[in-house]
Amino acid sequence: MDRIRITGGRTLHGTIPISGAKNATLPLMIASLLTEETLILDNVPRLADVGLLQRILGNHGVDVMVGGKRPGESAYDGQTLHISAARIIDTTAPYELVSRMRASFWVIAPLVARMGEAKVSLPGGCAIGTRPVDLLIMALERLGAEIEIDGGYVMARARNGLKGGEIVFPRVTVGGTHTAIMAAALAQGTTVIENAAHEPEIKDVADCLNRMGARIGGAGTSRIVIEGVSKLGGARHRVIPDRIETGTYAMAVAMTGGDVLLENGRADLLQAGLDVIAQAGAEISATNAGIRVTRNGAGIAPVEVVTAPFPGFPTDLQAQLMALMTRARGTSRITETIFENRFMHVQELVRLGAHIQLDGERATIEGVRRLQGAPVMATDLRASVSLVIAALAAEGETMVNRVYHLDRGFERLEDKLAACGAAIERISG
Ligand code: EPU
Repeated sequence: MDRIRITGGRTLHGTIPISGAKNATLPLMIASLLTEETLILDNVPRLADVGLLQRILGNHGVDVMVGGKRPGESAYDGQTLHISAARIIDTTAPYELVSRMRASFWVIAPLVARMGEAKVSLPGGCAIGTRPVDLLIMALERLGAEIEIDGGYVMARARNGLKGGEIVFPRVTVGGTHTAIMAAALAQGTTVIENAAHEPEIKDVADCLNRMGARIGGAGTSRIVIEGVSKLGGARHRVIPDRIETGTYAMAVAMTGGDVLLENGRADLLQAGLDVIAQAGAEISATNAGIRVTRNGAGIAPVEVVTAPFPGFPTDLQAQLMALMTRARGTSRITETIFENRFMHVQELVRLGAHIQLDGERATIEGVRRLQGAPVMATDLRASVSLVIAALAAEGETMVNRVYHLDRGFERLEDKLAACGAAIERISG
């Protein structure tokens, strides 16, 4: 298993290219199941989760062709995927695959919408909480799917096709909204989704589906209206930049000090996150090329933050912010409202010398003057990267174990940070 070794204490200077968004890429790839024609996705990040989803789609008969490099493209340019679900040979998504990546459960929506049936394993437990799929199932039922749960599998049937309906989510759910949109795109009649997720990745998927011939209005707001169509066609779509990767590197610069351009980063996708980083003392400026983050001289100021659905402060940046606050001059409070158990990073940050107290969904962080390197590991992607941020400012050497979690969601993390002067290297084996 690979490990990452970091020697802390260097400031970061230079340019970090921001990759395409993981959480847009995954539902976009799944949306390919809705059409017989080819969907071409540009700016796809090279991530373990993308490779795994390729395998999962392959199991349904989907062909994925990875486009070659064009002259002049750098190693950081995203890949182009040509995805063809011309013939779906299997409507079952087995436990062995779905349990490895929760988002693959979402295949249930395009499969039942196009094929009239799907059998998809329940994803099971997850490091960041129980994460049920009851609201995704409710959405499919509202569109007329008959649902049966047996032997750990959800069977969805709609022999005569799905029918438009009203879906009111009792809480904001990203996966529920993706599922509802994909299913409704091919349903007969109109679907209205109330209390829909606003996340930019929802809008990105809806934009792509509209290019494929869908009729989706209101994506990016809490009320989405979909006029079902009988067939969708192919399209070419460029994945939006990853706002969580952007925010993560912005926090790394706020932590170490320095001056870095986050190339292709988009401030409009991350305003709440950038506001908090600015409050902590970094200077943020949006330019045509991306987002520039600098922190020179001044220390890190403490903040009070509550995670919330978009446009609020994202739960996917909560662990990274906590790492930053371990070095703040004073006491910070971070409240996690999206997932009930997303604090696995706390005990590992404490091993690096942080002072953090947990009380239910609230963490209180007393900033310390120094962190000290140590061997650490985490069981989730965002928790792992928070340890990298802490390690960049810790004295001495930190070894981050279980790097495969980082590889699920961060493309060439060690290369991007090393290019800006961090002492970071991957140790294979
Ligand atoms: N929820 C239910 N029932 C459901 C669905 C969700 O109770 O049927 C609850 C969840 O347990 C959670 C809350 O609703 O407490 C929100 O969950 P949501 O459905 O919004 O999350 P998700 O779709 O499973 C996506 C991202 C997550 C991100 C969340 C919140 C992808 C592939 N995953 O998950 O990303 O944290 O939205 O923004 O888009 C990550 O990238 O590290 C990650 C975990």
